[in-house]
Amino acid sequence: ATIKQFQDTLLGWYDAHGRALPWRRDHAPYHVWLSEVMLQQTGVQTVIPYYERWLAHWPTLTDLAAADEAAVLKEWAGLGYYSRARNLLKTAQIITQERGGQWPTTAAGLKQLPGIGDYVAGAVASIAFGEPVPAIDGNAYRVFARLLLIDTDIRSGAAQRVFRAAITPLIPQDRPGDFNQAVMDLGSSYMTAKHPDSAHSPVAAFDAAYQQGVTDQYPVKSAK
Ligand code: ADE
Repeated sequence: ATIKQFQDTLLGWYDAHGRALPWRRDHAPYHVWLSEVMLQQTGVQTVIPYYERWLAHWPTLTDLAAADEAAVLKEWAGLGYYSRARNLLKTAQIITQERGGQWPTTAAGLKQLPGIGDYVAGAVASIAFGEPVPAIDGNAYRVFARLLLIDTDIRSGAAQRVFRAAITPLIPQDRPGDFNQAVMDLGSSYMTAKHPDSAHSPVAAFDAAYQQGVTDQYPVKSAK
């Protein structure tokens, strides 16, 4: 099997069956960034109403930058990890007041902003700006550990580097954001942690763990 065949299979499935989620209506950096920060520690179904209410309240990044922190925390209430909300406000202010409204367009640049780590930087850079970088969350660890039989402990310090090196060559230059979001959809449908349906997955032919009957052994994840 070739990388091109894998990419075409994954993206073909995503085009036909990818989820129509509110933050996929466009690729505006404000929308992509807000959704990815919310989705970092919170599930899709919980995030949807928060995302919609937030944008009703602050339709643009400029609106958010002018908000009171108390109002921001109130809108965030229930999502947990409140530093995420404070960092959203700080980043909105930096982009608006110090950068003339211009976002950094690379993952390396985005990572300089408050609350943006490897995952959110990769997601925003790929989805909003088309940079061919991975966005490695739990879904990506699970999907690629199984497809490629990567046995690095996903809780180890080496995991980000090992998976990044393995995934990067698979990313299509012309659709990196769709590739990353297709992996998220695969990881929350056919390639779940507890009840995978690897036999019917669109990428079953590329799934080494499935082919060898060892899906339940991947990803390797040490006890906390
Ligand atoms: N989880 C994290 N980011 C996501 C996205 N863009 N779409 C669906 N699930 C996600």
